[in-house]
Amino acid sequence: MKILITGGCGFIGSSLVRYLLTHTRHRVLNLDKLTYAATLDSVQDVREGESYQFSQGDICDSDSVDKLFSQFKPDAVVHLAAESHVDRSIDGPAAFIQTNIVGTYTLLEAARSYWQGLCGVQKANFRFLHVSTDEVYGELDLL
Ligand SMILES: NC(=O)c1ccc[n+]([C@@H]2O[C@H](COP(=O)([O-])OP(=O)(O)OC[C@H]3O[C@@H](n4cnc5c(N)ncnc54)[C@H](O)[C@@H]3O)[C@@H](O)[C@H]2O)c1
Repeated sequence: MKILITGGCGFIGSSLVRYLLTHTRHRVLNLDKLTYAATLDSVQDVREGESYQFSQGDICDSDSVDKLFSQFKPDAVVHLAAESHVDRSIDGPAAFIQTNIVGTYTLLEAARSYWQGLCGVQKANFRFLHVSTDEVYGELDLL
């Protein structure tokens, strides 16, 4: 299976990338802008090759994202790229709106367009998993 991971140099993403490459035979494309939150050290042991590709880029850049979909042809997307350090949004909300809202929208549109071109089992099995937080999803109702 080919998995496009966004934010694969972040806290959760780097762990996921290492896990997939160590414990499975999936192929991984890691799309990460390398913001202040990225830690390249955490994926430094992962060598680029047949199983792993790294692309430094922005999920808000629709042309680049479309190109990655058409070249890599993922079976699934795990979307982790985000501005996740919420306290920073008080001084600088723009980056949060761009990445968490516009970037997620851009990625979803790219995935939808790519998915519409798939057929049969590949289309039925395609998955998009967005890992995010309450700033994006809203709070759960208290039961
Ligand atoms: N870490 C946690 O405890 C936790 C808990 C709940 C929810 N979450 C959610 O899980 C997701 C991942 O969290 P994390 O802790 O790994 O985040 P992180 O801040 O450690 O990593 C985010 C990664 O996204 C990349 N990135 C940021 N903007 C980008 C852009 N525009 N284009 C491409 N890449 C970009 C950064 O370079 C970084 O590598 C977030 O949505 C976060 O809100 C995390």
